Amino acid sequence: MKITVIGAGNVGATCANAIAQRRIASEVVLLDIKENYAEGKALDMMQCATTLGFNTKIVGCTNDYARTAGSEVVVITSGIPRKPGMTREELIGINAGIVKTVSENVLVHSPNAIIVVVSNPMDTMTYLALKSTGLPKNRIIGMGGALDSSRFKTYLSLAIDKPANDIHGMVIGGHGDTTMIPLTRLASHNGVPVSQYLSTEKLEEVSAATMVGGKTLTGMLGTSAWYAPGAAVAYLVDSIVNDQKKMIPCSVMLDGEYGQNDICIGVPCIIGKNGVEEIVDVQLNDAEKVLFEKSAEAVRAMNNALNEVIA
Ligand code: NAI
Ligand code: 2OP
Repeated sequence: MKITVIGAGNVGATCANAIAQRRIASEVVLLDIKENYAEGKALDMMQCATTLGFNTKIVGCTNDYARTAGSEVVVITSGIPRKPGMTREELIGINAGIVKTVSENVLVHSPNAIIVVVSNPMDTMTYLALKSTGLPKNRIIGMGGALDSSRFKTYLSLAIDKPANDIHGMVIGGHGDTTMIPLTRLASHNGVPVSQYLSTEKLEEVSAATMVGGKTLTGMLGTSAWYAPGAAVAYLVDSIVNDQKKMIPCSVMLDGEYGQNDICIGVPCIIGKNGVEEIVDVQLNDAEKVLFEKSAEAVRAMNNALNEVIA
């Protein structure tokens, strides 16, 4: 089982490291355009193998796509990250060129790969990767909801002072500060609705903190976060390569689901060896439906901006 990660920066390297440490695949190839950068990161990670007890081979290369040949999953993290004061959307021009070229290059050597898009603005980059490669929609998956949900569950666990792994919850919609939708109504502590622990005001605070979760960290770190993003990608990759069929909110092409067409946006999906195996139809209430429609409008506006950039 071979996984390629394009971009050996903060998120790409953390994701490769998590894949190796969790023994998700037998080989991870890291590719970057910076000379020797991916090679250095791969060598450093390989030197953890004996102390951490994994056997995954980690290979680094500089823009050599032949080394990625035969990958089952390719993760695209290449591109610039947001800096304090920037939105994810402001990255569109530079990242669009990178994502388009990279996704075309990887398919030359791994024609059957499932592609996971991480670069921001992620929903629009996922849409671009789908349109530019012409791949079937089950094979292009945008990662954002897995991360946003992990932030949501973290904030909930802190608010009710219960272990994070006993918290269940999902964030759907766009992967943006104003477009994501934490589904507080459905969140639970092992099945007990979180509304039994938290007031409406407190739940709104948790929701607001989740939505600006990435922005908060960018302000603290001077660049966007990487530990939770890298771990969220590895979680998604694990469900694909080990055919776990986990339900994970992912940005995928909608053809009528949730009342939307021709858009990639976060919805709960069953993720297995074929990539997106099913889109789960969660019965949203009227207020959640309105939020989803607004979110889709904003993502669509970004897709239109993309069309202007690449026209
Ligand atoms: P980074 O700057 O640490 O790493 C990006 C790497 O991509 C650099 O090493 C750079 O040399 C490489 N790169 C640039 N152009 C390339 C090309 N054409 N081919 C191969 N490599 C290339 O950035 P970081 O923090 O790893 O973030 C990467 C992207 O992921 C950003 O767009 C960021 O906004 C996004 N992101 C998305 C998240 C999500 O949940 N979807 C979460 C966190 C970050
Ligand atoms: C994050 O959510 C910026 O998308 C990046 O951390």
